[in-house]
Amino acid sequence: MGQNSKYYGEEIEDAARIIITSKYVVALTGAGISVASGIPPFRGPGGLWTKHGEPPPNGYQRFLEDPVKWWRERLTKTGFYRDFIETLSTANPNPSHFALAELEKMGFLKCVITQNIDNLHRRAGSQNIAEIHGNAFLLRCIECGQRFEPQTFSITIDSLPPKCPTCKRGVIKTDTVFFGEPIPEDVLKKCFVEASKSDCMLTIGTSALVYPAAGLPIRAKQMNNAWLIEINPYETAISDLCDVVIRRPADVALPQIVNKIKELKCLI
Ligand code: APR
Repeated sequence: MGQNSKYYGEEIEDAARIIITSKYVVALTGAGISVASGIPPFRGPGGLWTKHGEPPPNGYQRFLEDPVKWWRERLTKTGFYRDFIETLSTANPNPSHFALAELEKMGFLKCVITQNIDNLHRRAGSQNIAEIHGNAFLLRCIECGQRFEPQTFSITIDSLPPKCPTCKRGVIKTDTVFFGEPIPEDVLKKCFVEASKSDCMLTIGTSALVYPAAGLPIRAKQMNNAWLIEINPYETAISDLCDVVIRRPADVALPQIVNKIKELKCLI
């Protein structure tokens, strides 16, 4: 079971009471929230990087040097990346994603900032989402930044690299942010604005090692002395900064927090 809480006696009740009394709750999610959907994390036990090693830091540079090669590999179903996309395509939202969507609907959660590219928050019904590392199911022009649903235009092996139908100049790539690629300005700005408004941040299923995402809870704490609530079975790089630490899987802890909020709301 969890630790004794510093505040109300049990960390699920702690988290619920803090969320109820906070004005602007933001969730920062990482790969761990999608583990229950069958998508492996990157680091730690069973992690993709643990198994295959981290990809080279110059993925974006290599794409720019030869976008045709990247697209040919993507379209001909080869490479580790293709297998990862197959796993994403068969995954479904789990109780964690639905719990965050419910918290937003109840008015207790203002925004989900996710490092995940799996589209599961959107499919679970969350509305205000910032996908800081992009979305594997969207395409984006590297010149004008326009995003597209893949079905809006056909990409064939003899018309590579795909060109942007909006600005006519840029090359189209997946919206997923590659290693070495700058985070698109629009989404980065949104993340900083949301973190700056937050007086409570839930950090869920993230090792908090990759910046700028990992800096967002620190920004919220520094700017607003925000409550930080960590939901992760293992310790992370920011556990010591958190006010409440819930060492349970997200798909167990988040529904428990939602139920506790409902219980407490009935008592008020
Ligand atoms: N519930 C909650 N957390 C979990 C669960 C679970 N069921 N299972 C694992 N975790 C935790 C792990 O303990 C770990 O701290 O999820 C975290 C996953 O960490 P990472 O694999 O490093 O994923 P993340 O933090 O999202 O990585 C950030 O790194 O490689 C880049 O672009 C990639 O977006 C990714 C970024």
